[in-house]
Amino acid sequence: MPGNSPSLGLRGFSGGGCRHSLLTIVWTVVGFFLAAHLISLYTSKDDQQQQQQAPSHHLQQQLHPPPHPALRELVRVKEEILRLPPPRKRSPRTSKRRSRKPIPMVEEFLDDKSPIRHLFFPDMKTAAFGPTKDMGNDAFHYFPGRFGWTRKETQFKLTAEGFCTTRNLARTIGVGCYSSKDLWTWKNEGIVLGAEETNKTHDLHKSNVLERPKVIYNEKTGKYVMWMHIDDANYTKASVGVAISDHPTGPFEYLYSKRPHGFDSRDMTVFKDDDGVAYLFYSSEVNSVLHIGPLTEDYLDVTPVMKRVMVGQHREAPAIFKHENTYYMITSWCTGWAPNEALAHAAESIMGPWEKLGNPCVGGNKVSRLTTFFAQSTYVFPLPGVPGAFIFMADRWKPSDLRDSRYVWLPLVIGGPADQPLESSFGFPMWSRVSIYWHSKWHLP
Ligand code: GAL
Repeated sequence: MPGNSPSLGLRGFSGGGCRHSLLTIVWTVVGFFLAAHLISLYTSKDDQQQQQQAPSHHLQQQLHPPPHPALRELVRVKEEILRLPPPRKRSPRTSKRRSRKPIPMVEEFLDDKSPIRHLFFPDMKTAAFGPTKDMGNDAFHYFPGRFGWTRKETQFKLTAEGFCTTRNLARTIGVGCYSSKDLWTWKNEGIVLGAEETNKTHDLHKSNVLERPKVIYNEKTGKYVMWMHIDDANYTKASVGVAISDHPTGPFEYLYSKRPHGFDSRDMTVFKDDDGVAYLFYSSEVNSVLHIGPLTEDYLDVTPVMKRVMVGQHREAPAIFKHENTYYMITSWCTGWAPNEALAHAAESIMGPWEKLGNPCVGGNKVSRLTTFFAQSTYVFPLPGVPGAFIFMADRWKPSDLRDSRYVWLPLVIGGPADQPLESSFGFPMWSRVSIYWHSKWHLP
């Protein structure tokens, strides 16, 4: 019936249209529910993942509480512009000391003849040990890089408990000591472990190297024990030395040197834990691995126990500290006297494994952050009364005149989430961030 076709067609069309619209509606509704279901599935999966990956805001707050209010000034990020002088021919000493990829500002830093040398090594006439007064300003401040030690002293202790940090003693004079009860006013206690003038075979002969001395107090024996890096002028002896005294201010009696656990040992430190057990940390296996081992009860030797950590990472200049049952460490890379990028590390157990947290330097400028503010870690100690706050101590080496090297002391604060994914993480960073804040001058809170 072709004549009916149009109407049929029409009917058919309109009848089929109805079915089609119905189908469309049904499918739209089904589609809507399906989509809603899928979205809800994804959202809850996301939520679950987020709960696994990132702690809730509340948990974040618990894990990473904001810094103590007393630190408000110290945790301000201070930028600093350093301008390069016009290009010129370098002194041969600087070119010899080129790092793998020279950074122009680091070349300036290493160049004795740099017209901006005074920015890194201000005139010693304005330098001193401890805080100094700014020109025309009555307030005392710590000026990183503007304080060092008198040319004879090489080390200081920080509290009556007697811990200390150091400096290189190539052409040894001895280990010097400064003391303070408030970390603000300092007394020069003089040389507490003197160099040997005549006996050329003695570890402390003035032709040898003594670096990085640290003193810890042993409650059981009532003695102050000094550990140090002992070397010959070519750095082939690679040993640790031990000295002992009844007083933190010496005189220290030198006992002996050895290769701990039979291994070479260069940059080193000791750390005394809350339970009284002390540990030796040393760069070993030609600085490629860090070794950690507990000391004997009297702190005069190592025990046979030793762990190799940061294997193949070439870290040195270790500085250890502890906060809320977590151990932290700052290390440098191995570039001799030239500065390089610091790394912060954390561990639940002092013997490791140690996790990398990233570069702790904040503020200054890109180059200073990549060079630990033109310095190298040496020691970190707690700021009394301010939990989570420390003083980071670093050596700003002056290779052309090591004894005119300077200290860079800056506030170090533990707080806030770590900003680098963890190597062996299980979802979210457990450790807090370690931040060293640049300040061209600062004072204690
Ligand atoms: C550095 C080390 C310093 C000193 C220097 C000698 O890598 O941290 O303490 O040993 O090498 O070149």
